[in-house]
Amino acid sequence: MLVTSAFCFVTLVLPLHATTIDYRKAWTTKGDKIPNFSFAGYHESESALPSLSSSAKKTLSPGSGDQHATIQAALDEVFQDGGGVVALKAGTFALSSGLLIQNGTILRGAGIGKTILTVKDLSEDVVTLGKTSGKEKKGKSIKITDDYVPAGTGTVHVADARGLSLGMEVYVTPYTPPTRPSEMGIENLSMRVKPSCSGRVLGDKTCSSAAVRIPSWTTDSWVRNLDLTGFNNHIGLLESASRITITTVTMNRDGPTDNDKGYALDIAIDGTQVLVHNVKTLGKKDARSYSVATQSLTPGPNACIGYEAEQAVESIEPHQRWAHGFLNEGSKVAAVLFRNRGGAGSGHGWTINNGQSASVASDKFLSVKNTRCILELQRVLCRHAGSSWRAGTKLLLRLRWSKIQEGRRRD
Ligand SMILES: *[C@@H]1O[C@H](CO)[C@@H](O)[C@H](O)[C@H]1NC(C)=O
Ligand SMILES: *[C@@H]1O[C@H](CO)[C@@H](O)[C@H](O)[C@H]1NC(C)=O
Ligand SMILES: *[C@@H]1O[C@H](CO)[C@@H](O)[C@H](O)[C@H]1NC(C)=O
Repeated sequence: MLVTSAFCFVTLVLPLHATTIDYRKAWTTKGDKIPNFSFAGYHESESALPSLSSSAKKTLSPGSGDQHATIQAALDEVFQDGGGVVALKAGTFALSSGLLIQNGTILRGAGIGKTILTVKDLSEDVVTLGKTSGKEKKGKSIKITDDYVPAGTGTVHVADARGLSLGMEVYVTPYTPPTRPSEMGIENLSMRVKPSCSGRVLGDKTCSSAAVRIPSWTTDSWVRNLDLTGFNNHIGLLESASRITITTVTMNRDGPTDNDKGYALDIAIDGTQVLVHNVKTLGKKDARSYSVATQSLTPGPNACIGYEAEQAVESIEPHQRWAHGFLNEGSKVAAVLFRNRGGAGSGHGWTINNGQSASVASDKFLSVKNTRCILELQRVLCRHAGSSWRAGTKLLLRLRWSKIQEGRRRD
């Protein structure tokens, strides 16, 4: 996924609409560079998703009444047995509560429009990929001694490197994450909420959960070939979920939006190395939402490639304060907004550092103008009045120490 197309990028001093950019040389005088978005996705997009036609360990036929217990038991059994595929034959499976898919386990339908999961409300997420065991351990904070840490750097100088070891994840403190569940998938089926939650007011708890939730620490997993109808928030990735591919998903908004209290998010990213690819939102003009939105302090690189939204008021936009490293490429949506939201929301202020948009068909493209402010984000200098973001939190560096040692430049 090396990106060398026509693009519009204003946080670095580069000619606009240049046809080919050598990204390795696209640096500012202070050393800020564009993140390498090739690292987004399942296994950093270095391997293909596992085959859709691998054989199933368990196959279920639709039955009458609530199918939750049956499907959950099959998923648990396969998980206990070291993982594998639970296949659902064509037909409708009614669910009274959410399903949990654990490490190494995949839930697969017989195809879009063939296997259909139905729920009556969204008090719970319908499908959750991953359950973390153990707790993360945080070490002592270590001071960074550099005056300026450029965006996208692979090197930082610290006051004391004791306690850091190869392979460790480094935030600004040394960090040992809990064990990460991986190799989980949800694929090849439709999901419906009836009566529809589409467009419902955001505070409605019976409608606010997601079709698919990727919790913290889930890694190397995927969501593919889904058709979702009647949801309000569709797919949510929580903090520290990483290397996730979401591909070939259609989200159908079948109700007008309650304009009163803000709009729902189709795909909300608070994880890192997330690749959203070939995804669509369909719906009438008044079925409004944010297509893809990063959340508060979301670290990149995250990439959205080939998104299409039918609605006339749909936007791709980093949404909350201070996300880092977001690429939007080849999308067709009404608006792409990389901007300062000022006091909007809970005082989101600047939404993105090192954001980039390429080959976009959109009526409205709005990008940040305050270059200095954005570039200096990593130095924790730039704050916007009204933003409740505080300096010193985890956003700055989620590099793997091994990579720093090896001198490889990654984001
Ligand atoms: C980004 O990473 C990919 C995968 O490792 C590599 O092939 C590519 O050359 C890198 N791009 C840049 C501009 O460094
Ligand atoms: C996946 O879905 C497609 C149609 O949507 C179907 O042709 C294919 O057979 C399905 N794959 C499996 C393994 O069920
Ligand atoms: C997930 O399963 C794989 C393969 O069985 C195993 O290597 C890994 O340790 C498991 N991870 C967790 C978090 O249980």
